[in-house]
This record gives sequence, C-alpha cells and structure tokens, in this order.
Amino acid sequence: MMTRLYFNDVVTRDGFQIETNFIPTDDKVKLIDALSHCGFAKIEVTSFTSPKAIPMLRDAEEVMGKIQRVPGVEYTVLVPNLRGAERAFESKADEFNLVMSTSETHNLANLRMGREKSFAGLSAVIQYVDARVPINVSLSTAFGCPMEGEVSQAVVEEFAQRFADLGVRGLTICDTTGMANPEQVKQMCEALLKRFPALQLTLHFHNTRGMGLANVLAAVQAGIVRFDGSLGGLGGCPYAPGASGNISSEDAIHMLDAMGYDTGINISKLIGLARQLPTIVGHAVPGQVAKAGCTYDLHPAPPYVEELRAR
Ligand code: COA
Ligand code: ZN
Repeated sequence: MMTRLYFNDVVTRDGFQIETNFIPTDDKVKLIDALSHCGFAKIEVTSFTSPKAIPMLRDAEEVMGKIQRVPGVEYTVLVPNLRGAERAFESKADEFNLVMSTSETHNLANLRMGREKSFAGLSAVIQYVDARVPINVSLSTAFGCPMEGEVSQAVVEEFAQRFADLGVRGLTICDTTGMANPEQVKQMCEALLKRFPALQLTLHFHNTRGMGLANVLAAVQAGIVRFDGSLGGLGGCPYAPGASGNISSEDAIHMLDAMGYDTGINISKLIGLARQLPTIVGHAVPGQVAKAGCTYDLHPAPPYVEELRAR
C-alpha cells in the first residue's frame, strides 16, 4: 500500500481559537516550532481575523514573526477578508486559507454576512493576491449545519466549482461540527475527486459525535490524501453551537500508520508533544493514543503469568 498522506496540524488555530484562557505567545511559538519537526506537510499557524471576534489569536503577527520555519513545511493562516490578506502578506504566510460556510445561517453567525457577500469578498481577496501566494478555500459546514441541518452536496459542489473557476490551488471540505457520516463522506469525496482532479482536496473533520476517524477512513479509501488534524483533538468553531474538537492528529496518524499508509510523521515525537498539551492549555485533551500509548508499546505481564506459563 504505502500511499503517501499529507497532514496539516491546526491546533494553534482551530484548537486555540476556542480556548477560554489566552495561550501565551511564546507557548504558541514553542509548540509550532516543535510541530515543525514532526513531519507535517502544513501547519495552520493562526488566523488574521478581527481580534475582537477571536481574541485568543490576537497575537497573530507576533507568532508568525517568531516561529522558526522549517523548509518543506508550509505555514498557512486563516484569512477572512481583505484586511486579513494584507496582514497575512506582511507576515509572509506560505498559503492563505480563506473561509466561508456552505450554510447561509452558519455564514451569518460566523462571518456576519450572507454567503454571496462572502463569496464576493473572497473573490476580491483572490484578485488582490493575484497568484503571489497559493490560495486554499475552506468550505465550512459542508456535511451539515448545526442550525440549518442538511447542506446538500450540490451546494458544496457549486461553491467548489466557483472557487475552482477563480484559480484556487486547494479546497478544504470541513465538517465543522461533526455531523458527517462515513457513507456521506465517501459520496462527497468520490464526487469531488472526479470533478476537481487538479485541485488539492483536504478533508477537515471534527470528532463531535465520535465519527471522526471513521470519516477519515472513508475519505482515505475514496482516494483523499490530505487531512487536517489537531494535536490532542482540540478545536471548535466559536460560532457553532455544540462545536467540539477536531480529530486528534496523533490518533488519526497512528491509525493510518498501523494500516500501512506513509503519513510522513514521526509518531513518537508527535505523541510526546501531545502529552505536553494539557500543561500548555491547562486542561485534559480528548486525544486517546497519547493516554493509551501506541499499539506497539507493550506492557509487562503480571508476575503470575510467568508462574502459570512454567506449570
Ligand atoms: N483583521 C483585523 N481587524 C479586522 C479584520 C481583520 N481581518 N477584519 C475586520 N477587522 C476589524 C475592523 O477593523 C473593525 O474594527 P473597529 O471596530 O475597531 O473599526 C472591526 O473588525 C469590524 O469590522 P467589520 O468590517 O465590520 O467586520 P465584521 O465585524 O463584520 O467582522 C470578520 C467580519 C469576518 C472579520 C469577523 O467577524 C471575524 O474575524 N470573525 C471570525 C471568524 C472566524 O475566524 N471564525 C472561526 C474560524 S472558522
Ligand atoms: Zn474546524
């Protein structure tokens, strides 16, 4: 097998945006620098959103200025509008990750405007960037909206097509609040891979209802090779009721590695980092492998087992 997979860790953006306590800038920088040596293809460092909307990431410039970039790792940032793009340029981000929702209600809640206004705004950003930096567009709530319910695949494909027509390099299909199921994921991924063979397609899952890794499996079996994950399984959209963590990077990577996929990741380094995360954020985190250890981390048998064996 050995298909090469590409992971993007979003803990310092999707993860930290929803924390109740501000994570000190130097802690963010240290974590990103450590993630840079784990083998990630990409790291979503921060977001250039309004500091009033997302105060936890108000230090975006400082973080971008202080991290030590490792060649081969792309440092991407979330950009909601033109002002965000200007800031991302100054910070020399490697990729701009633009965002809008496929659900009208979630777009109004999260970005305070309707989808058409968002699309027009993001088109202006793409025009302004003028291919100087690769653009990725994240389509939120693509598998369902916590306020509206179903989002049809046709709507997702329509926005994907409109952004493809604007020349974006990639699209991230986001299950913002963990509503996707594996059958739905299979159908979505097959359709998008067929329709957009030239685009970098990334899948972004949240484990809100315990379906995260099943959805990763469905996507990888459909042919997807790019995934977002979050160290420790932190994360969530502050404007989505009941939102909770992304799939844990280390849990997903551990699973795929055990299945024979080439994730490019140094798993023991990654798990070591995941084990430091509760200290950084000040609470327990959902990821499971960091607690249980890898399947190949064996435990000594109790002494009576040897006695039984000797009988
Ligand atoms: N960077 C810094 N400041 C920004 C900004 C940006 N990208 N975009 C807007 N602002 C500031 C404006 O300067 C203005 O400041 P002021 O009140 O001091 O004049 C204020 O934010 C409001 O600006 P406005 O253009 O009216 O934007 P808005 O209030 O409609 O906000 C968003 C639009 C999208 C920028 C804002 O809602 C946002 O950042 N949301 C966060 C979305 C997000 O990251 N969600 C989670 C991840 S999906
Ligand atoms: Zn997310």
